[in-house]
Amino acid sequence: IVVLDDPRACGRAVADAVADVLARDTGRPPTLGLATGSSPLPAYAELVRRHRDEGLSFAGARAFLLDEYLGLPAGHPQSYREVIRRELTDHLDIDPAAVHAPDGTRADPAEAAADYERLLAACGPVDLQILGIGGNGHIGFNEPGSAFGSRTRVATLTERTRADNARFFDRPADLPHRVLTQGPATIMEARRIVLVATGEGKRAAVAATVSGPVTTDVPATVLRDHPHCTLVLDRAAAGERA
Ligand code: F6R
Repeated sequence: IVVLDDPRACGRAVADAVADVLARDTGRPPTLGLATGSSPLPAYAELVRRHRDEGLSFAGARAFLLDEYLGLPAGHPQSYREVIRRELTDHLDIDPAAVHAPDGTRADPAEAAADYERLLAACGPVDLQILGIGGNGHIGFNEPGSAFGSRTRVATLTERTRADNARFFDRPADLPHRVLTQGPATIMEARRIVLVATGEGKRAAVAATVSGPVTTDVPATVLRDHPHCTLVLDRAAAGERA
């Protein structure tokens, strides 16, 4: 657990972990797992800055998104594929064809989930998975009650998560009820995991993740069994006074 002053410092710490993966020569492409939402945005801004100002290169790397909404039209500004393109990959030298996301536009979403699992199995493991955490302890879109053994699949958002994410949509009613998400078992296969949480709204979920019982009621508690997982927290999320 690393506690830092503010979200920008957290972003720098996450960017350090990414740079570490890019620098290592493992004989296979550096493979990043990307979360969406607001928590990783300072990290993504920092990576874009390091690419622009310091020549940090993503050439030869590949990336896998954690999750995607189901049923948004291709190119919808809030589809996670679009968000990652806009916030991150468009500003880097990563090959766009090496950035993968579950396909939320397919007629058969269960088949899309199975295809994504197959792709991950063929290209994995993910070297570094970046995660956020929901106020209810979800990771990816694995809401409370998700089996720890489950893999990429169709899932339904809780009303709490829909309310939390409505801020990203011009018309909150457009926010889908269903998503494709990597399962806890898929996420746990990453070699290294960095979960970033900032702001008071994450305090309870972080506390439950760190010191509550390991339970599917708080999906992030699955991470306690991961051999190399770091929580990067600002003081507010860690429950410290500023
Ligand atoms: C996003 C994701 C979610 C978010 C979580 C926190 O790809 O998988 O688990 O990480 O909902 O969202 P923010 O960071 O917006 O508070």
